[in-house]
Amino acid sequence: MTLLETQNLTAHYGDFQALFGVDIRLEAGQTIAIIGANGAGKTTLMRSIAGVLRNAPGMIRYDGTAIGALPADEVMAMGVSMVPEGRKLFPSLSVEENLLVGTYGRKIVGHWSLDTVYRLFPILREKRHVPGTALSGGQQQMVAIGRALMSNPRVLLCDEISLGLAPVVIRDIYAALPEIQSSGASVIVVEQDIGQAMKVASTVYCMMEGRVTLSGAPGTLSRGAIHAAYFGAHA
Ligand SMILES: Nc1ncnc2c1ncn2[C@@H]1O[C@H](COP(=O)(O)OP(=O)(O)O)[C@@H](O)[C@H]1O
Ligand SMILES: [Mg+2]
Repeated sequence: MTLLETQNLTAHYGDFQALFGVDIRLEAGQTIAIIGANGAGKTTLMRSIAGVLRNAPGMIRYDGTAIGALPADEVMAMGVSMVPEGRKLFPSLSVEENLLVGTYGRKIVGHWSLDTVYRLFPILREKRHVPGTALSGGQQQMVAIGRALMSNPRVLLCDEISLGLAPVVIRDIYAALPEIQSSGASVIVVEQDIGQAMKVASTVYCMMEGRVTLSGAPGTLSRGAIHAAYFGAHA
């Protein structure tokens, strides 16, 4: 079953067009990856899906509903949650308060609660009264992921969760993915790390200059094709 898809999605910042007819599809239970160089449009795609950027209604369909024009709070209430690029924690709030922001005071029934997030990332329980910004980069990323999980999403959007982190920390963070998947969430990961994307996703979409330049199952994509789709034919 297709849970989420974009159809001929376009996006603009004022006069600047950032997306040109992007089509991606997420099946229920699937994890897909979006790869591409800086400026390719990956974050713009995530912001469009999450309702931070508004689009024409039919450009994004979720669970049978046209959501392209809905605002972020409504999209989130329907079960689409984003771990934003750069984590975006609230600096004056503790770890626990940052996690609770993810529920906006609503009680959303499901697997995820403070307790299950703390079991997923035990270090956060130890640091629950510490300001989020006093944590290491990896721990901050865990808070950002936990905050997104607190609303018990059916779709989790992860925008560059490994950016700037050491390999061992990236491994710890991606180790959480199986439990996130088994909680019932379908996942879109945005990654500049092609190897990481290939490891976790059943379908990979490569973007360049606002377009999808290549897509398919990781095993079907050659290094040469990925290189051309990622950097352009003349790179
Ligand atoms: N707030 C903004 N205002 C104007 N242009 C933007 C804004 N955010 C992103 N862009 C431009 O849109 C394009 C896509 O950016 P982005 O989606 O952030 O790419 P990526 O996440 O793949 O690095 C880039 O050319 C970028 O400069
Ligand atoms: Mg980005």
